[in-house]
Amino acid sequence: MSHPDTGLGIDIGGSGIKGAPVDLETGEFTADRLRLPTPEHSGPAEVAFVIGEIVAHFPEALEGGLGITFPGVVQQGVVRTAANVDKAWIGTDAQALFSEAAGRPVRILNDADAAAVAEARFGAAKGVSGVVLLTTLGTGIGTALVVDGRLVPNTEFGHLQIDGHDAESQASSAARQRDDLSYEEWARSRLNRYYQVVEELLWPDLIVVGGGVSRKSERFLPHLDLRTPIVPAALLNTAGIVGAALSAAELKH
Ligand code: BGC
Repeated sequence: MSHPDTGLGIDIGGSGIKGAPVDLETGEFTADRLRLPTPEHSGPAEVAFVIGEIVAHFPEALEGGLGITFPGVVQQGVVRTAANVDKAWIGTDAQALFSEAAGRPVRILNDADAAAVAEARFGAAKGVSGVVLLTTLGTGIGTALVVDGRLVPNTEFGHLQIDGHDAESQASSAARQRDDLSYEEWARSRLNRYYQVVEELLWPDLIVVGGGVSRKSERFLPHLDLRTPIVPAALLNTAGIVGAALSAAELKH
């Protein structure tokens, strides 16, 4: 059997759908990432079309499998929630849809879960025992729980009800921009409250902060007052793609 050392990862986001071939041993991209805009009407059929285009662009990268992230709960390949995307996704068998578009089996998983798989293998959660909580701060708040290196899929702690609000509506990066808060204001009010509730409920050993804003972590992490160590993600914007490819490869074995 040939060694399946390269897989293809695709990350479905609100503004772009990004794919790259991933060296499964190192987590590095083996070719430049392809980013296509998310269609304006981003229902299942439109997104499946874009997936087909990305797969066709990297025909050589599929030996290790094809993994795709989705920004909602995905149970047994079926999308269950769509907080920040077209509601037509709810109930869609994305695994069947994307497999057909790609002409091969796919693994589909939540975007934060994919990022956590990558961080646990190559990044900020590598070798960490106990409970690691990864949170992605973007349009929404994605969360992923990794226990002794093993993912507990589909946690949705971004939707905890805190002080009468859906947590992500107050503490996400989009909420910071919407409410015109500085990074420090956001950290001291919204983020600190969010993470304090989360640490009371989960008692993680480590919190990893991902999402685009983790690139600016020095602007907000120092203003948090938590008992749990909290660190920025190491893979930044590649984590979703890398984690998707790793997850697909795992499924094949
Ligand atoms: C969704 C999560 C997703 C997160 C980040 C939330 O609104 O419910 O499933 O991981 O946004 O995209």
